[in-house]
Amino acid sequence: MNVHLKFICNNEYVETDINPSVTVLDFLRLQKHLTGTKEGCREGDCGACTILVGEMTGNFIRYKSVNSCLLPVSEIHGRHIVSIEGLNVKGMSPFQETLVNEGGTQCGFCTPGFVVSFASFLLSTDSFDTETALSFLGGNLCRCTGHNRIISAVEKTLSGFNGGAATSFSERVGLLKNKNFLPAYFADIPERLKSIQREHKIFEGAENAVFVSGGTDLFVQQGDSLTEKNTVFLSGVLKGEKIWIEGDELFLSAAATVSDLENSEIINRIFPTFKDLSKLFGSLQIRNRATLGGNINNASPIGDMSVFLLSLNAKVFLSNGKTIRSLYLKDYFKDYKTLDRNEDEFTQKFSIPLPRGGYKLSFEKVSKRTYLDIASVNTSLYIEYDSVITKAGLSAGGVSPVPLFLKESSGFLIGKEISSSTLVGLVEAALGEIKPISDVRGSAEYKTLLLGRLLRAHFLKLFPEVIKAEDALC
Ligand SMILES: Cc1cc2nc3c(=O)[nH]c(=O)nc-3n(C[C@H](O)[C@H](O)[C@H](O)COP(=O)(O)OP(=O)(O)OC[C@H]3O[C@@H](n4cnc5c(N)ncnc54)[C@H](O)[C@@H]3O)c2cc1C
Ligand code: FES
Ligand code: FES
Repeated sequence: MNVHLKFICNNEYVETDINPSVTVLDFLRLQKHLTGTKEGCREGDCGACTILVGEMTGNFIRYKSVNSCLLPVSEIHGRHIVSIEGLNVKGMSPFQETLVNEGGTQCGFCTPGFVVSFASFLLSTDSFDTETALSFLGGNLCRCTGHNRIISAVEKTLSGFNGGAATSFSERVGLLKNKNFLPAYFADIPERLKSIQREHKIFEGAENAVFVSGGTDLFVQQGDSLTEKNTVFLSGVLKGEKIWIEGDELFLSAAATVSDLENSEIINRIFPTFKDLSKLFGSLQIRNRATLGGNINNASPIGDMSVFLLSLNAKVFLSNGKTIRSLYLKDYFKDYKTLDRNEDEFTQKFSIPLPRGGYKLSFEKVSKRTYLDIASVNTSLYIEYDSVITKAGLSAGGVSPVPLFLKESSGFLIGKEISSSTLVGLVEAALGEIKPISDVRGSAEYKTLLLGRLLRAHFLKLFPEVIKAEDALC
């Protein structure tokens, strides 16, 4: 069934009747004939299809880079999408010119994606340094030039560049326009976007519904076949606050993305080490779309967010549009890819007890590539302690058919002092509790060894004053 969508594509106001599950990549290339956006892997890996999606936040538009190959058109209603053509300026922008001069482009297939990601950096940051720029470009791969030439183009473009603090959208856009990074039409987008409202939808049940959140998993697994299904886009249903505190609990909407958490003042205050986790989760384009709800409900045994939330003793809230029920996340995962969820239920939110007293959180992950890869084994450890440990949550992924809350091991820690003998006991308890299998991400023996090493890494990182490297190698 088609839906009626209104949005701005580059400098053009668009109204269209379209199947909501068509990807923005296909819309741009096949319907608008904007072929600058490239189709590489169609799996969120290469970044050749990167576009910007701009959304009104107060009087400001926040632009995020996303992979258009995994983005359904329903998500761009009321938004500004920018493809490489929408960044055209007189001649070439300084970054494009430097890419050419530095030999940072050969076949040019990846170049539009790099240029769009660089524009997202210029529009989003107050830190105009190479390191920050490269964190925006991390999800873009070049297969023929080699990344050194591109890094050199970034360095040269930024040398002596000052973008100012982004206090006002018009100021930032004005500056980027004057420096020939952005076309002038960007300045009018807030006014034009205000007239297109995004509506809140109420879910009243749907037969055989396929719930779509960020789509970063669904569109890889099911892609084109989603246009034939009864898709329910949860971004329209789960509106409102993403991260909030009520009483002594922290609430996270199922629609909160990894980037939402990464940029949240509340999360950074309560769990400053969340950044360690998010750095290891996909690319920026993926983190900008990947939601907590999607990570838990794809039921992957190695979901990073599942492992994070399990260690914090999270509860999951399920709604069918009429009633809401809640259960502990550790009870939600029943068996491989099997959840305690009825067909008509979707995850609405999660709650976490607020930490009390002294507490620490550590997340560790080993994957074939350090960055942009899913885990072979991941684990999270949450501890509250005084002179002894008073509360503990240990979880691990990749060592059983489900993301696992290690109940016995967590219990073992209660009442123990932070010491190398506690660590030895914990490793023994944890390795007795897991049931890894051999698969493409490693043999069962390798995963067992990894978990032992990662538990030692937790303790070394959290308690360096007590645990020494030689203790951790025990
Ligand atoms: C290139 C790439 C890198 C990745 N890297 C990582 C990584 O490092 N770590 C990691 O853990 N994952 C990774 N992923 C997997 C994926 O991005 C995450 O699992 C993500 O959190 C899924 O969220 P989503 O919102 O995109 O889910 P979607 O694709 O929208 O949905 C996934 C599943 O959950 C269901 N669902 C979604 N939301 C709800 C809800 N609220 N209630 C009920 N069901 C729901 C959907 O029906 C679907 O079955 C990666 C994926 C890609 C393509
Ligand atoms: S085509 Fe490779 S990330 Fe989209
Ligand atoms: S220039 Fe060919 S892939 Fe980058």
